[in-house]
Amino acid sequence: MTFVITSPCLGTQDRACVDACPVDCIHFEAGVDAMLYINPIDCIDCGACQPACPVSAIFPESEVTTEESRFININSLWFEDAAAARTELGTDIEPVITAEEVAGSGSGSGDGNDTADEELAYRQVDVTQLPLPNASSAVLSPVGVVALALLSLSLFTMIMFPGPGIIKPAGTTLEIGLTIIVLVPITALMALIFIIHQWSQLGNFSAHDLRNTSPWRVDVSDWRRSEDSRRADLLNIVQSIAKERFDFPNANNPDMRTYVNLPEPQMAIEVQGGSRKILPDIVVLDRPGGRPKLIAQIESRETLTREQAKYVWSELQVKDTPLLLYVPSGLAAQAKDYARSAGIKNIQIRTWRRQPDNVRVREVR
Ligand code: F3S
Ligand code: F3S
Repeated sequence: MTFVITSPCLGTQDRACVDACPVDCIHFEAGVDAMLYINPIDCIDCGACQPACPVSAIFPESEVTTEESRFININSLWFEDAAAARTELGTDIEPVITAEEVAGSGSGSGDGNDTADEELAYRQVDVTQLPLPNASSAVLSPVGVVALALLSLSLFTMIMFPGPGIIKPAGTTLEIGLTIIVLVPITALMALIFIIHQWSQLGNFSAHDLRNTSPWRVDVSDWRRSEDSRRADLLNIVQSIAKERFDFPNANNPDMRTYVNLPEPQMAIEVQGGSRKILPDIVVLDRPGGRPKLIAQIESRETLTREQAKYVWSELQVKDTPLLLYVPSGLAAQAKDYARSAGIKNIQIRTWRRQPDNVRVREVR
């Protein structure tokens, strides 16, 4: 079962449900969609969104009335084919929320308004820990080298020796030479082989590419934080996110329980038939079944590294359990690169941003 948003959302789009959802599975495109949609795969059926909606638009799937039943399909369809879902809904319904409004309020997707974040993070960044370009890891495989060489040779030959003109497109003075006709399929094949063989290395290269950093980071490059300070800071962030997003059990979810494995381990998950135990930062279980409902890992600027992705995130992948990764605002692209190069596919990335009295979390699309 999952929860479904129904017709009262049309023309309202209050969005209180978005803030209430602990796993950020309610989505829409501002300025395009006339209502919001719950992702049936990500929804953990906690029900927190239902009382938050001021127009009672949200119901468990099993309680959706016959008149509203078409919204069950529309909700799930949006995550497969948003255009088809909009057509199914009816194209004459105007969205209430404009893209400008979302951008202005800072509540849309993405990582906008990073200036404030940078100011807050100013005293906490140790730039010596930031990943630096490492060209040596962008190694071409032997197949990649051969494909690239043949690709270059084909292009060179086509340009220098196009051959006798065989095809003359009507109405033009152009002539397509025999060499070009023969070599185009070979060139395309070589390009395809190169991309397939170098895909992971291309990902590495992208992740090692030095991202634009603002000059102040260079200016404070001699700033150092102690290890204790880093640990205390991360602990604070983990506990803030646990409280903000996974405050279980609560009135809506008496059967769910959140465990935070910092500073002391509280709840390990046994995998591979109990032969191995993993300790994510946050674990949400349902009771009395004790099955993991979601796993969350929180990284700071210092702990967001390629090694962390390879040795820690990859370990946290548990079948049928959503893995949420929280990284500092502005570093989502870097986290995506690391996850991709570590071969991690099923991971949902969120960003966190420190605010004066709490930690603000945002979903990344
Ligand atoms: Fe979120 Fe509502 Fe599902 S709060 S997890 S969409 S039931
Ligand atoms: Fe719609 Fe209600 Fe959410 S109006 S946006 S379902 S709070």
